[in-house]
Formats: sequence, structure tokens, C-alpha cells
Amino acid sequence: MDVKIYEYDAVVVGAGLAGLVAAKELTEAGKKTAVITKLHPLRSHSGAAQGGINAALGKDDSTELHEFDTVKGSDYLADQDAVELMCSKAPETIRWAERMGAVFSRDKEGDIAIRPFGGQSKPRACYAKDRTGLTLLQTIYEQAYRAGIEVFDEWYAGDLLYEDGKAYGVVAYNIRDSKDMAIFNARVTMFATGGHGRAFRFNSNAHANTGDSLSIVARHGLPLEDMEFVQFHPSGLGGSGILISEAARGEGGRLYNSEGERFMSKYAPNAMELASRDVVSRAIMEEVRQGKGVGKDKQSVNIDLTHLDPEIILTRLPELRELAIAFQGQDMLKEPIHISATAHYSMGGIPVNIDCQVRKNPKELVEGFYAAGECSCVSVHGANRLGANSLLEALLFGRHAGENMVKALDSGVELRRATQDDAKRFIDEFTRVKTSNGKERVPKLREELQNGMTADAGVFRSKESLERQLKLIDNLIERYRDIRIDDKSDTFNTDLQEALELGHMLEFSKFIVVGALKREESRGGHYREDFPTRDDERFLKHTYAYMDKDYNINIEWGDVVLGKFEPMERKY
Ligand code: FUM
Repeated sequence: MDVKIYEYDAVVVGAGLAGLVAAKELTEAGKKTAVITKLHPLRSHSGAAQGGINAALGKDDSTELHEFDTVKGSDYLADQDAVELMCSKAPETIRWAERMGAVFSRDKEGDIAIRPFGGQSKPRACYAKDRTGLTLLQTIYEQAYRAGIEVFDEWYAGDLLYEDGKAYGVVAYNIRDSKDMAIFNARVTMFATGGHGRAFRFNSNAHANTGDSLSIVARHGLPLEDMEFVQFHPSGLGGSGILISEAARGEGGRLYNSEGERFMSKYAPNAMELASRDVVSRAIMEEVRQGKGVGKDKQSVNIDLTHLDPEIILTRLPELRELAIAFQGQDMLKEPIHISATAHYSMGGIPVNIDCQVRKNPKELVEGFYAAGECSCVSVHGANRLGANSLLEALLFGRHAGENMVKALDSGVELRRATQDDAKRFIDEFTRVKTSNGKERVPKLREELQNGMTADAGVFRSKESLERQLKLIDNLIERYRDIRIDDKSDTFNTDLQEALELGHMLEFSKFIVVGALKREESRGGHYREDFPTRDDERFLKHTYAYMDKDYNINIEWGDVVLGKFEPMERKY
């Protein structure tokens, strides 16, 4: 296969908020930058973030309070230096986004409107109705476009160029014709590929969120951090998992079980529905387990907004209403709607330092390699993320990564020249999958993985359930060698793409499960029924997990950056 080699100063993989803003910074600074993305940038999953972006703008709020809520929400696993950077720069980030053209909703005084979100002691989620992510994505896309970014959309990045502790680009192919294979050789490389929620059956994520970059990195022997921490958002639409924003609870939505009991009073008597997401999700699933669920299969609970002034729903939550009508036939103006905990966000990912440089291990960095947004772990979320901190993280650290890459380029990072041989590994994988003629079907293997992840590595976990899931994943990895692709054509071959994606999903899912097995405690989104309490003595630590050629995962423990907030018992 003939492989073109393109040379750039920077290559950014992923065109959501983090990737686009980084590319904008690079391009504006005159750096030749390529953005590689599976989707058109405006279809990126950042656009699905609904409820808000946090900044301490309220009159009685402070960045220190934002920091405290974030650290407490993280169950004290967040790195406090990164949290301090994020929260202290949040107000400036919102003003900057506004100057870029983002139209936020306003309050009566004409200031940027803020709403309450879970786990936060003050209202601080700035919003644009319930389309905050979309508004920001469109704004940053416009600005990046204006700066002249070069986008390779519908290109699939399949491998990282990495040797001797240095990254120097990626190998990718053009999804439109499955023929153009190219090396994007670069002085600096950034991954901003988003989340991995599609590994779970019940999830709020877009189809594209298959976490490819995680295993791409891991296949080079580089670590993934804190992968066991998956966030289950309390409100996914009952049948599908589609997100019903936390804004619904922020605006006053109440949760009821089948007996009409407002059950959060048992689990979080002070914060009620606005406890942190891990607490509310567990409460919902506990009610379901006790047989107090609603809906056809009794797997949901009710969220009721009918007591609110309809004007609030119509002006602040219009998209949520439309989603519930379209996908569930329920109008929140007239009746409660069914929701359930849905896999939503990955707190773990590619480990990076506070400047978004990828770590080779807890102590060393990879040269020329950066990551930001959900695929990365700068560890501002620790074991549980606060709602509305993800848009903030993506925008703020994406921009920070862009600025840092500009500095690195200005200081003279050399291009390590790629050769055709650098594409060999991905060409082999691509060819094997494209010509595969075995007996296993990709959708069937994926379904088994997703069902198992939701059932056995989901909201409730135990040694027994995790070992069952580990065995299943090993079995699926074995069977994946014997897959069959029916579509052998070249044009938009989604069979091929989905098969490649499944390979990644199997591998990073193993990181989630092995990390969850090793972490014999409960912290944030990771709840072990056999170890129901937090154990700071043994586990106030990050996991760094490495995969060998036989898919064995080895865990190393890394220090948490502590600071002014001492670990305490969390109460909501
Ligand atoms: O509920 C939501 O609107 C989601 C926001 C987030 O995950 O930050």
C-alpha cells in the first residue's frame, strides 16, 4: 500500500472542543497544523453537553469554593494543583468564550445566567439554554475556521508514531474511500478524541465515542491512568440512555420511585437531587434493585418537573423536552419522565501533567505528545466529575495544550522524520480486518461486551462480577481474531471501521475492569459492594496501567497531588 507522508508542525487528533481550540491556537501562532477527525467537527460529542460550564461568577461564589467542590466531588482523588489551575482560570475562560462569540443565556440583570448543578455549594453552571456544548463548539469551530485550520474530516487515526520516548505523528486512512493511507508526521502530536462510553450497553455517548486513542496509546506500552473510574450520569432516558441534562434537577426536578417516594431524602438528605452524580446514580439503581423502579421493565425512576413554571422548561430546557417526547413519548410539561443511570464520562485516560504533556510513567514525560479533554487524565475529576466541569476542562485545557505546543515549537522541537515503515503496523491491522473471513460477527461481540460492562462493571461492582467480565473480555479478545467483515467495498466501509473500533473497545475495557478489581475500595464512581468504603490508607493513589503484547495489564500506583483540602468523609 502506498502511503503518503505529510509534514506538519502539529497534528491534532479529534475535533471536539479541546482539539479545535488547541488547533486554533496553533494555527493563529503560524504553526502548520492538521486536525484529523472521524467526524465533521460540528458532529463532535462536545456538542451533546447540555447543561452548562462551571465558573465562579456568582456574587457570593469564589474560585476556592469551586476548587473545594471539585476536590470533594472527586472523592479526594483529583490532583489539587490541576484543580486550582482549572477553577482559578474558569471565569476568564468564560469571558474569553463570550468574546469569541458564545451566546450565553442571561439573567434578569443581563449577566451571564448561572444555574445550580449537583455537588456544588453555589450555582455556577453558565449555560446557553440546554445547548451549552453545541453553542461553544460552534463558536470555537467558527474561530478555528477563521484562523485557517486544516481539517482532515472522516479520516480515521489508527496508530501513533512513537519511538524512544518521542511521538512524531499518526497514521490515518480516509474513511470515504478506505484507500488513502497517510502518515501525518509532526513535531508535536495531540490526542483530543473524547470519551469511551460506547463500551457500555446503556450510555449517553455518540456512536463515535469508542475510545480508540486509549488503546492506540496503550499498544505502545504507555500507561492509562485511573481507568476504573467511569461516571454514570443519573439521568439517561429510560429506554436509550440518551442524556437528560442535570439541568433538569438544577432547575428543580425531583426524583420519585414507583411508590411515589422522593427517595433522595434517604441517600442525601441535604443536597437531595443535587448530590454528586455518583451518589444520585447509586441511589437510583438501588431503588431499582429494591423493585421500586418504573417503566415497562421497572429499570427506571421518575423525574418530575410538572411543578415548575412551564416557562422554565420552555425557555431553559427546550431540548430536553423534545428529546423525551421524541424518544420516549413523554412530555415533561405534563408528566414525569423515566430516567436511569447511564454510562456518561471517563474520569481516567491518557495521563498528562498540568501542561497537558503525556506521561510515559508517573515520573517521565513523552516528548512531543499532548492530550486534553475526556480522553486525557490531567486528574481534575479524580474518582467522580462534577457536572459542568467537563466543558470547562475541554475548553480550558485544550487551549492550554495549544499554547504549550506553540511554546514547545518555538523552543525548537525537532521533526523526527517518518518513513513508510512507520505505517506498517497499522497497515497490517487494517488489512487483516478488511480481509477477515472468520466466523465471529462484530455486532455480536460488541453487544456481549456492552451488556457485560453495564451488568458487571457498571454502577455496582464486586470481585465476582468483575472477574466474570474479565473472563468475558479475554474470551472476546480471542474470538475477535476470528471475525468476519462482509462488506469488502472501499466507500464508507462502516463494517471495517466498526471492527477496528471494537478492537480498541475490547482492550481499553480490560483496563477498566482490571483497575476496578485491583481497587479494593469504593470511591466516587467506582463502587465495590465487597469493599463499600473508601480506603485512603491503601488507595489514595492513582492507577497507572500498562498492557503487554498478550493483553496482560499491570498496575503501578502513582501519588495524588494533595493540597489545601484534606481528605474528609463526603456528606451531601
Ligand atoms: O447533565 C449535563 O448537562 C451534562 C453535563 C456534564 O456532563 O458536564
